[in-house]
Amino acid sequence: LTRAEAARALLGGRGRVPVREAGHAFAPVNIALVKYWGKRDDALNLPVTDSLSIALAGIGTRTTVSRHEGPDRVTLNGEPLAADTAFAQRLSRYLDLVRAHPRAGYQVDTRNDVPTGAGLASSASGFAALTRALDQLHGWNLAPSALSILARLGSGSAARSVADGFVRWRAGTRDDGMDSYGEPLAARLEDLRIGLLTVSADEKALGSTPAMARTRATSPLYAAWPGLVESDLRQADAAIAAGDFHALGRVAEANALAMHATCIAARPAVLFLLPASLAAMQAVWRLRAEGMPVYFTIDAGPNLKLLTLAQNVAALGTAIPGLRIVAPFA
Ligand code: DP6
Repeated sequence: LTRAEAARALLGGRGRVPVREAGHAFAPVNIALVKYWGKRDDALNLPVTDSLSIALAGIGTRTTVSRHEGPDRVTLNGEPLAADTAFAQRLSRYLDLVRAHPRAGYQVDTRNDVPTGAGLASSASGFAALTRALDQLHGWNLAPSALSILARLGSGSAARSVADGFVRWRAGTRDDGMDSYGEPLAARLEDLRIGLLTVSADEKALGSTPAMARTRATSPLYAAWPGLVESDLRQADAAIAAGDFHALGRVAEANALAMHATCIAARPAVLFLLPASLAAMQAVWRLRAEGMPVYFTIDAGPNLKLLTLAQNVAALGTAIPGLRIVAPFA
């Protein structure tokens, strides 16, 4: 299936004509605790494995979309984006999946609470918010699973940003991907806090799409990744079910390190970590050795996301200045 065919199958007979002036939606950033790394279908963003994330309540992307005749117009954080930027082109290719005819343009205004392109998953919340806004604009009333699938066609991890709390994105087995969407878990960990540690807000040199393709194609360690994810997911599920913060932190940190090790072994190497990332990782280990409940995870960039508990927030803020602390279940 092509992306266009998948979108058509999903939308069925739903109209491509707006039923209101504008669609407006929010979608949260999600932090993967067991990572998505590698696709079984590049066009449809179908993953090799399931993955598990936590959404950050209230932090993410707010998007307004409306129709206009002519080329798409995109503003990012209030600034008009030139049509030839990679981001504007990626959005336009996504909008191609839903527009009524080639000249049917959209005005997209999107605002991120996190630095774009710095490994803080802004593409996930961005495509999820855009999908929800399009659903509202056209009055589609898509089911949660269909919203997740449509968002996934924009960016894989966006499949998880359509729900709150812990979300499991199932890899599915179907070629058309209709069984590959994000589903929220009922369990919560109310005391969990996420610390966002921005080591560098620069755009990353290599996006996750080419990075995961290269890793899957050339890393001699990739063969071990799917099995590792399966056992990490089992441990994460058990930790969440038991409300065991430490067990969840341990598996999230180990899974992130295994992903980065697999990347580093790609040829040529895919290395997202900066010296400051390593220094921060070692600071976390030092704090933990002193008895502080803190773990880290890192996505396709140099920045750290720390996992800690509510009662430890003040002490952690003192130990690591510049942290932005989020209550994911707020
Ligand atoms: C490291 O979802 O950005 O954050 O599907 O190609 O758009 P595409 O990739 P993307 O990859 C996210 C990778 C990750 C891990 C994760 O979020 O699970």
